Amino acid sequence: MAKNVAVIGAGISGLAALKCSLEIGLHATCFEKGNCVGGLWDFMDDAEDGRASIYHSVFTNACKEMMCYPDFPIPDEYPNFMHNAVFLEYLKLYAIHFDLLRHIKFKTAVVSVQKRSDFSVTGQWDVVTEHEGKQKLTIFDAVLVCTGHHVYPNLPLQSFPGINKFKGQYIHNRDYKNPANYAGKRMLVVGLGNSGADIAVELGRTAKQVVLSTRSGAWIMSRVWDNGYPWDMVYLTRYQSFLNRILPRAVSDWLYERMMEKRFNHSHYGLVPVNKSLRKEPVFNDDLATSITCGTVVVKPNIKEFTETSAVFEDGSVMENLDVVIFATGYSYAYPFMEDSIVKNSKNKVSLYKGVFPPTLEKPTLAVIGLVQSLGGIPPTSDVQARWAVRVIKGLCKLPPKETMINELNEEEGEKKNWFGRSETLSTDYVAYMDDISSYIGCNPKLPLLFLTDPKLAWEVFFGPCSPYQFRLNGQGKWDGARKAILNQWNRTIAATRKREVSLHQESSSIITLVKFLFLPLLLFAVFLAWS
Ligand SMILES: Cc1cc2nc3c(=O)[nH]c(=O)nc-3n(C[C@H](O)[C@H](O)[C@H](O)COP(=O)(O)OP(=O)(O)OC[C@H]3O[C@@H](n4cnc5c(N)ncnc54)[C@H](O)[C@@H]3O)c2cc1C
Ligand SMILES: *[C@@H]1O[C@H](CO)[C@@H](O)[C@H](O)[C@H]1NC(C)=O
Ligand SMILES: *[C@@H]1O[C@H](CO)[C@@H](O)[C@H](O)[C@H]1NC(C)=O
Ligand SMILES: *[C@@H]1O[C@H](CO)[C@@H](O)[C@H](O)[C@H]1NC(C)=O
Repeated sequence: MAKNVAVIGAGISGLAALKCSLEIGLHATCFEKGNCVGGLWDFMDDAEDGRASIYHSVFTNACKEMMCYPDFPIPDEYPNFMHNAVFLEYLKLYAIHFDLLRHIKFKTAVVSVQKRSDFSVTGQWDVVTEHEGKQKLTIFDAVLVCTGHHVYPNLPLQSFPGINKFKGQYIHNRDYKNPANYAGKRMLVVGLGNSGADIAVELGRTAKQVVLSTRSGAWIMSRVWDNGYPWDMVYLTRYQSFLNRILPRAVSDWLYERMMEKRFNHSHYGLVPVNKSLRKEPVFNDDLATSITCGTVVVKPNIKEFTETSAVFEDGSVMENLDVVIFATGYSYAYPFMEDSIVKNSKNKVSLYKGVFPPTLEKPTLAVIGLVQSLGGIPPTSDVQARWAVRVIKGLCKLPPKETMINELNEEEGEKKNWFGRSETLSTDYVAYMDDISSYIGCNPKLPLLFLTDPKLAWEVFFGPCSPYQFRLNGQGKWDGARKAILNQWNRTIAATRKREVSLHQESSSIITLVKFLFLPLLLFAVFLAWS
């Protein structure tokens, strides 16, 4: 008999989990609190308790070729980086294309997930759901938790002495929707992450003054990267990941820094990370440097204290007559419907094998999808995680023994601190992680073989962007369109920006090159003559 799986949430991760469960023949039911798919990308005018909340101007920071599900490219007419409303449309298309909607119970919240008394034998869960005030208990063979992790604000007020004396207004960025209410005000944004940078830039256009306070700085990447290509098409490649792995740490640090400093010198802008070798996740913002150089955003260090009307920074400078503080201080993880002991370790930190499986359960029948954050987009990551999870649940894949998983987690914790700094964001190297998980289900690209059988494709897989389609090229769940999608990815990227026909001056450019080559010796000779 097909196993019964509960999928909690119908955001990016929930949709992937539902699709992958159905694909492998499990009987799946998805419960979604809201009345629509999309989770975080379903913009709401007011923040709702227990749900993610974004500001109106959120755009994706991964491009369309990197932020799609691996077997469902984003429509050609969509731009490379999408406004949240556009990306939400894509998620709806995905749900319709794979006929997922009839498996989703909307306006139904999961309020409790508990092991059944015979869990060690059956691995079954009691799942209590609530719909229109009525609760219902259902037994499930497995649970896929896809509830997101940009929900519960992290607002460490104790680290900001004097905040309770402060007479102005303060909010978490979760409650920030648009700049209209803040026109003409003196604003302080605390925290230099993607949200903090976006909000500061946006406020800078209409507020009276905007100060952005950062404790540790950050590298700023822009969506428009080398030659105008999306940053991730250029940077997230197997070749780059390979270099990172084989080069000595000092060399790869140097290369990384040089890349980040290419557009502007971060120390001149007051942004340079305090500890460069920590490789804190970069912030994506195309306009922050412009705002700083135009004076609409001023960067300051950490806050020492607040007074009734002002903020005092650690360098002794003061921002007077402050109207509103926006804390862009991130989120913390919570799964209020289940016992913390299921997903958290003894230090009360979320600790999951490969970011997916709780290592101590007697039966591997619960998985968390979409928690790992890597530099790439979430959809492909959720897709491979979900494919792996459903195979483990179905018994087609096995997890290592409990001790091995726990040891590996302890080791990883040390390493991650080294790689991305803020280990609590569970960040990880995109290509390495994707290859690792996909190797468990045999769908990682087999490069040496590919170079023999299809060199053109292999070249693009290795040197080109590590796009999601690579993980549906072979193995179970293989998608026949994957090869074509990979070979066409650059064309689609260019087509998304080139809406006006342009004549390509190829001839003239090669003539110019020829001329340069002819004239160079002449020029050198002239210089030589002039000198002697
Ligand atoms: C400002 C911002 C920008 C971002 N930009 C990007 C980006 O460009 N690219 C990228 O890849 N990622 C980005 N992210 C990360 C983002 O978390 C992911 O894109 C993605 O939304 C995660 O999807 P999810 O399905 O895991 O979670 P969510 O989108 O949060 O969805 C979770 C769903 O679960 C439902 N739910 C929760 N609890 C329950 C319950 N108890 N019962 C029933 N339903 C429940 C919620 O209603 C929701 O629909 C961004 C995040 C933020 C905050
Ligand atoms: C940035 O500026 C600082 C100080 O002016 C200088 O020491 C550093 O070499 C510059 N970095 C780069 C990459 O040019
Ligand atoms: C920066 O981080 C590295 C790696 O964690 C650490 O070894 C080093 O001591 C740190 N340097 C400073 C100046 O904090
Ligand atoms: C991509 O576009 C170029 C130029 O328009 C064309 O020559 C090439 O054949 C296209 N590639 C594919 C795989 O369609």
